[in-house]
Amino acid sequence: MENFDFYAPTKMLFGKGKAVCLPEEMRPFGNRVLMVYGGGSIKKNGIYDTVCGILKDSGFQFWELGGVTPNPKIETVRAGIAMAREHQADMILAVGGGSTVDCGKVIAAGYFYEGDAWDVVKDPSLIAGALPVFTVLTMAATGSEMNPTAVITNQAVHEKQGVHSSHLYPRASVLDPTYLYTLPAIQTAAGVADIMSHIFEGYFKKTEDAYVQDKFSEGILKTCIKWGPVALTEPENYSARANIMWAASMALNGLCGCGKEGKWSCHAIQHQLGAYYDITHGVGLAVITPAWMRYILSENTVGKFVDYAINVWGFPRQPDEFALANMGIDATEQFFVDCGLPVTLSELGIDDSLFEVMAKAAVPYAQLDTQAYVPLHEQDVVNIYRACL
Ligand code: NZQ
Ligand code: ZN
Repeated sequence: MENFDFYAPTKMLFGKGKAVCLPEEMRPFGNRVLMVYGGGSIKKNGIYDTVCGILKDSGFQFWELGGVTPNPKIETVRAGIAMAREHQADMILAVGGGSTVDCGKVIAAGYFYEGDAWDVVKDPSLIAGALPVFTVLTMAATGSEMNPTAVITNQAVHEKQGVHSSHLYPRASVLDPTYLYTLPAIQTAAGVADIMSHIFEGYFKKTEDAYVQDKFSEGILKTCIKWGPVALTEPENYSARANIMWAASMALNGLCGCGKEGKWSCHAIQHQLGAYYDITHGVGLAVITPAWMRYILSENTVGKFVDYAINVWGFPRQPDEFALANMGIDATEQFFVDCGLPVTLSELGIDDSLFEVMAKAAVPYAQLDTQAYVPLHEQDVVNIYRACL
């Protein structure tokens, strides 16, 4: 196992009705709040009224930045920084999914940076501090509610960029599983695919003796496989929503990925799709993941895929390792299909016209040619995109 620091400072307020605990966490930081939210789902499902009521009853002053889009844009971040400065916000409260939380995080960091906000996305060393960030999560997927990452899109330069800084950890996050009840099925499914991908990115790594991380990982994958379909057929099943919500946070708070060397592959490949086509993150991952798995399956990797097939999918051991590995990969793809997710780029209306351009950007994005589990060069990434058509 490689050396690592594990640091997960976010206070997690988990369970039905826990939003009432927010004021106590926020009060030490001041009274003036910039509340950030998305395209309006929180107004339809009542979360907006609940949160505003709690803030008002507790004497907070707050201003609102609504309209954060999926794949949040740098323009929205800039608008948020201007608002936070105008109202001298003491803190940011993001109410929404990963896009809203990510946008809130970069507003918080950009507040203290004099130049353009895109600079801090490209170069996290410029982040010298950030306003305290709080979140009320309405979507289970990214783990942003408990991690130091934000992903922002700059359409002008066709870049979707992740930024990591210890200043970006939320101080506290409310995870009320009932807030997930109104998610459209496709978002529930995309969230499950995203959680699973976060695990895959750490599970399929060169480091072989991070056993405890692998067992956490297999447990989270099995949680997604057991409870994801229940959340889809019974959107108001509390147990399903609670397990998926907690799985999302655990999948990307460092617990499963620590102690392993190397960079992520599928996210680098998917982020280029996001930069050019503005597709749902988890949907893109559901398309890319089985193709990537098949592409990297070899004598060197088959043992790990056998572990996956047996420990996650419960297939019995058999002499033909490649057959077993492929059973695990096929089961992954079929699971995504059963969840109602597209599994080809064609279904998303994406053709091969930008494959070379995206592959050229994907390789340096995560040093895929040297740092990936199985090194990928431009042509390999093009081949993977092609296998997704
Ligand atoms: O905008 P509103 O109206 O709120 O609607 C949203 C949005 O349309 C809707 N939604 C969310 N909660 C809802 C709801 N609709 C009904 N009821 C609810 N309770 O769902 C749609 C998707 O929301 P979004 O926030 O975009 O989803 P997600 O949480 O999947 O976030 C995706 C973004 O996070 C980035 C992705 O790249 C993408 O930009 N990621 C962030 C990471 C991180 N910070 O660590 C890591 C991830 O790998 C990922 O890259
Ligand atoms: Zn992701």
